[in-house]
Amino acid sequence: MNIANTVALITGAGKGLGRSVVETLLEKGATVIAVDYDEAALKEIPPHEKLTIVAADLLKDEFFSETLPGLFKQFKINVLVNNAGILHNKPLVSFGKAGFSKISNEEWDLVLNINLKVPMMMAREVVEHMIKTRAKGVIINISSISAQGNLGQSAYSASKAGIESFTKVIAKELGAWGIRAACLAPGYMDTVSTHAVMQEETLNNIVKNVPLRRLGKTTEVANGICFIIENDFFNGKVLAIDGGLTI
Ligand SMILES: NC(=O)c1ccc[n+]([C@@H]2O[C@H](COP(=O)([O-])OP(=O)(O)OC[C@H]3O[C@@H](n4cnc5c(N)ncnc54)[C@H](O)[C@@H]3O)[C@@H](O)[C@H]2O)c1
Repeated sequence: MNIANTVALITGAGKGLGRSVVETLLEKGATVIAVDYDEAALKEIPPHEKLTIVAADLLKDEFFSETLPGLFKQFKINVLVNNAGILHNKPLVSFGKAGFSKISNEEWDLVLNINLKVPMMMAREVVEHMIKTRAKGVIINISSISAQGNLGQSAYSASKAGIESFTKVIAKELGAWGIRAACLAPGYMDTVSTHAVMQEETLNNIVKNVPLRRLGKTTEVANGICFIIENDFFNGKVLAIDGGLTI
């Protein structure tokens, strides 16, 4: 696909990786719909004639019953980037000064809902819209190297392994309509969220195991998204942008 001809909806677009994807796609001429519940962050994106910002919580029913159908009337969307997600560190069980601690159902549900259920719901609605408007396109889901099973990240890793499996299935199901699906799995990227959930010492130790000895840049993920959009034969696969950490 020629990026300049695409209409791309990016979730979690206000900050971090999503924000970089928005700016890169705009630079390449795409029409972009940026969705995030952090309205202040969305407003920090420099205005652009081809950018529409939508402040909405993807976990609220109204987004799917009102906001998204409204966007379908306005735009012929042919690229979806399911990027919104939460990084979450919590072992299944742990024992510390405060005693025995277990991951709660609420934590598990929150991580699985935003990282796996919402991408499914987004894909389901956008695919229906694409088929009805006879648009060929691509669903891109953001996974993580944690899909391989990161120590201390039971819910997060399960959500990311789930999104990779989901992507493979829908790639098989949707090919007949000319719709592709793919995952991009970032390694440790230099974002505010990475520094917020990881201790610097832990992060420094991880970086020692990255063959390139550094964190990734948000633009490197954005360039990976461009590759997936542009390569019409890339389908059902996971593109790892991790500096070689998972070799
Ligand atoms: N940063 C990394 O190193 C890294 C590594 C691997 C995978 N990832 C994945 O990349 C994606 C983006 O991560 P990031 O580091 O840019 O995170 P981030 O926290 O900087 O950005 C995520 C965005 O999603 C938005 N969001 C979260 N829940 C939402 C909701 N319910 N409704 C609307 N918006 C919501 C947040 O407001 C935020 O702007 C996530 O799926 C994450 O799991 C990140």
